[in-house]
Formats: sequence, structure tokens, C-alpha cells
Amino acid sequence: MLRFKNSSLMALSIQIASTLVVLAFMIFQSFLTFSLFEWATLQGLLASLVSFLARMPLWWIPIHLLFLPLSIATLALDISPLWFLVLFMGMWLVYGKTYKTQVPLYLSSKHVPDALESLLPQNKNFSFIDVGSGCGGLLKNLAGIHKNGRFYGIEAAPIPFLISRLRNMLSVSGCQIVWGDFWQHDFSQYDVVYAYLSPVPMESLWQKARREMRPGSLLISNTFTIPGIEPYKSIPLNDFSNSTLYLWKI
Ligand SMILES: C[S@@+](CC[C@H](N)C(=O)[O-])C[C@H]1O[C@@H](n2cnc3c(N)ncnc32)[C@H](O)[C@@H]1O
Repeated sequence: MLRFKNSSLMALSIQIASTLVVLAFMIFQSFLTFSLFEWATLQGLLASLVSFLARMPLWWIPIHLLFLPLSIATLALDISPLWFLVLFMGMWLVYGKTYKTQVPLYLSSKHVPDALESLLPQNKNFSFIDVGSGCGGLLKNLAGIHKNGRFYGIEAAPIPFLISRLRNMLSVSGCQIVWGDFWQHDFSQYDVVYAYLSPVPMESLWQKARREMRPGSLLISNTFTIPGIEPYKSIPLNDFSNSTLYLWKI
């Protein structure tokens, strides 16, 4: 079996291969007379079976199952193709880099600022960066509470970055958010580095933190642990996804 480093590429290959198989079957046999939607459903079943056999994460199964049948059903709605282009561009500007970063956009819950309240310095100045700062909501909330902190963010996806910039302009929080890749950004100037990413980059994030962060500074990860490295503290957040903050002192 072919091995793919990137699960999106694998999913795309499964979709293409199962479509070709069903297409060939459609053309070269004469005993089955299915509608286009039924053929698409067959393709969905085949794609999800292959995904299961290839041991892709289970959440890919409903995606494979529904992708083509829903696409065919949507065509029947007679919606202008322009809307699909607009939707695609919007999705691309939010999620386009996920293919490379393996980190999609989802936001920290409102419980995070509360949990961080007692952890962040109360009486001395400190600097805090959210690596992959999304729409900037966490930074804005923290900056409103901790007047002794300087808050920074770096975000790779254009639309979330623009939203965070706009948010920042409309409030007086004074966070500094830049558009860019945090892997190219030096962590040494921060007392606290906060990350809410995915399981994929955690090992590399730890290597980068160890190389660049100052002794005594704090690395905080929402939800995702670093393989083989025990956090010195874990704080359950009691939010909708039952997430936990993990803390490592450098
Ligand atoms: C799970 S979201 C977290 C958003 C925000 N930090 C929060 O807690 O609400 C992760 C974000 O990291 C961004 N991201 C992923 N890799 C990145 C990179 N290498 N450089 C900058 N941003 C990145 C993604 O675009 C996404 O918006």
C-alpha cells in the first residue's frame, strides 16, 4: 500500500481512485442502471471503505462517504457557480495553509483567560505570544485583563489575521499581531508562549522552544501534549471540549 506523509493527499488520492473505479464500472457494464446520485453514493461507500482499510483517522469516513453525493445533490440546486468560487476562496483564505501546517482554525474557549489569570505575573511586566493566533480573540481578552502584559500574535491564515487586526483597531487592547509563520519567528523575547495547534507539530514545537526560549519562561499548550515530555502542570478547562492546558517550564 502507498504511504502518504500528508493525510489530505491520501484522502484526495482515495477520492480520485474510487471515482475512477466507479466511472469505469459505470461505462463498461450494462446490467446496473443507477441514477447519477446513486453512482455517487456507491463512490462514497467505496471511498470510505478504502479509507477505513488504509487506517485513515475515522473522522475521514463521513467525509469520504458524503463528499461526492453531496456535490451531485448541490448541483441540482441550480446555484450560480460564482457562489462556489466565493466560498472556495473564503475557505482557502482561512484553511488553505492547513495542508502544509496540519493545524486548522478552531478557537480557544472563554475559559482559557480565567485559567491563565493566576498563572500570569501579577506585579511585574511580561510578554506573551499566541503562536497561530487565529482571530486574535484570546489575545484581546488577555490584554483587557493583564495591563502589565505585552501581547503578541502571529497568524499564517489571511482572513483570521485580518479579523484580528480589525478587532485590534476597534479596541484599545494594543496587541501586536503579525501575518507570518511562527516557525520563522524567534521565541527568545517572550516570557510566555501559548500554542493551540494539533498533535502534528508538538514535537517540533518543543525542540524550537528548548532552543530559543529563555530559562524560566513558560510554554503553554491547549489540549495537545508533547510526546514523552511531562508537563509540570495541567489545568482542566471544563469547557465544551473538556480541554486541558499543559504547562512546561523551560
Ligand atoms: C487552533 S487555531 C488557534 C487559534 C488561537 N490561538 C486560539 O487559541 O483561539 C491554530 C491557528 O494556528 C495557525 N497556524 C498554524 N500553523 C501556523 C504557522 N506555522 N504560523 C502561523 N500560524 C499558524 C492556523 O492558521 C490557526 O489559525
